Amino acid sequence: MSKIVKIKINRPASSYRISVGSGTLASAGTWAQNALKKGGGKIVVVSNPTVFKLYGEQCESSLLQAGFTVTTFLMKDGEVHKSLRTAESALKAFSEAGLTRTDAVVALGGGVVGDLVGFAAAMYLRGVAFLQIPTTLLAMIDSSVGGKTGVNSAFGKNLIGAFHQPSGVLIDVSTLATLPSREVTAGFCEMIKHGVIAGKPLLKRTDELLEKYPIAEFAEHLENRNFRSEISNLIASNVEFKAEVVAGDEFESAEKIDARSRKILNFGHTLAHALEKVTNYRHFKHGEAVGYGILFAAELSKSLALCDTKVVNLLYDVVHRIGTLPSLAGIDATEVIEAFRFDKKNISGSLQMVLLKGLGRPVIVSQRDIPTKAFHTNLENFLQKRPGA
Ligand code: NAD
Ligand code: GLY
Repeated sequence: MSKIVKIKINRPASSYRISVGSGTLASAGTWAQNALKKGGGKIVVVSNPTVFKLYGEQCESSLLQAGFTVTTFLMKDGEVHKSLRTAESALKAFSEAGLTRTDAVVALGGGVVGDLVGFAAAMYLRGVAFLQIPTTLLAMIDSSVGGKTGVNSAFGKNLIGAFHQPSGVLIDVSTLATLPSREVTAGFCEMIKHGVIAGKPLLKRTDELLEKYPIAEFAEHLENRNFRSEISNLIASNVEFKAEVVAGDEFESAEKIDARSRKILNFGHTLAHALEKVTNYRHFKHGEAVGYGILFAAELSKSLALCDTKVVNLLYDVVHRIGTLPSLAGIDATEVIEAFRFDKKNISGSLQMVLLKGLGRPVIVSQRDIPTKAFHTNLENFLQKRPGA
């Protein structure tokens, strides 16, 4: 059971396939041969100890069987390790493995591993091929697709990076059975983000799946063949949507500000990145912060008369279906506003925010065009209301 989504970017070397299914990891070797268009050669598998213990052996033995010479590099687990220092260690590991320009790197793990490996692969010998095997829901529907790679630094999140498309993405939904529940919630937050900007049909499918299969028993549902098939299809639809947006604006052009600009994928991320920064990346999972970001962007849109209360209420309903988000207690609005200044969506001194005219109708608004008082009042009210609790 496997579904193929093809991402077609208008540069021949940048088109690749995203395979979605259950049990696909067992054939990682033949999949890698197809994605890299060759058998044999060196591969460095980068993962972290948590993921590698669960899926490393299966992945590597399949690659070995397919004729690849495999070396492993394990980075430490956690957002704080998505850093230049870790990237440098990865580069050292690539060099020690004797990786050449015709070899490849595999990212086995969540978005942290994927972003870091993609960035290291972009830098090593000015670019070697890399393959994504995402093992979190968030990485499956979002970070493994589209070629944004990078690391965090003292001055902000993801501010150092490169566009480097993978040569292929292999999604095995059965790996989600071991995912901690907060990570499942975080992944669904990004899925809701896609639904909101893509339009009602995708959001409705997400909501219906969550209604039919309550998130509290997510791991148990994965034992059910029908669920595995339904979640695979939903993941594939999310990937299809993202692929379409990326294909139209691969490098997130500064000038492109229409409703199909890649910037729309940042819906909910302005507040999310600021929340992560002011809590030193330790309090929220990235997706959880996006959950709050979506609600804040919707509230702000309503207060600017861009969208109506119905849309905001609908978003609260869907977000509540995916569990409780970590508390916003103690988060200071002034610090959050200061963190916005370093957001990478800041163009020529003004923050670019994605707001909402309705479902499937994102709109990019310069913060200059949002009255400062309205912005601050909305933020203070939002933080005080603590909507996720
Ligand atoms: P993560 O990579 O930190 O993974 C979350 C946790 O789950 C980790 O502890 C990891 O070891 C563990 N884990 C992973 N797979 C597992 C499995 N199958 N079973 C058990 N445990 C497992 O977090 P994430 O949410 O996957 O990724 C977040 C990162 O992705 C952030 O750094 C964010 O900036 C980035 N991101 C990038 C893009 C992009 O377009 N490049 C898009 C969205 C998010
Ligand atoms: N996650 C935002 C993007 O890929 O553009």
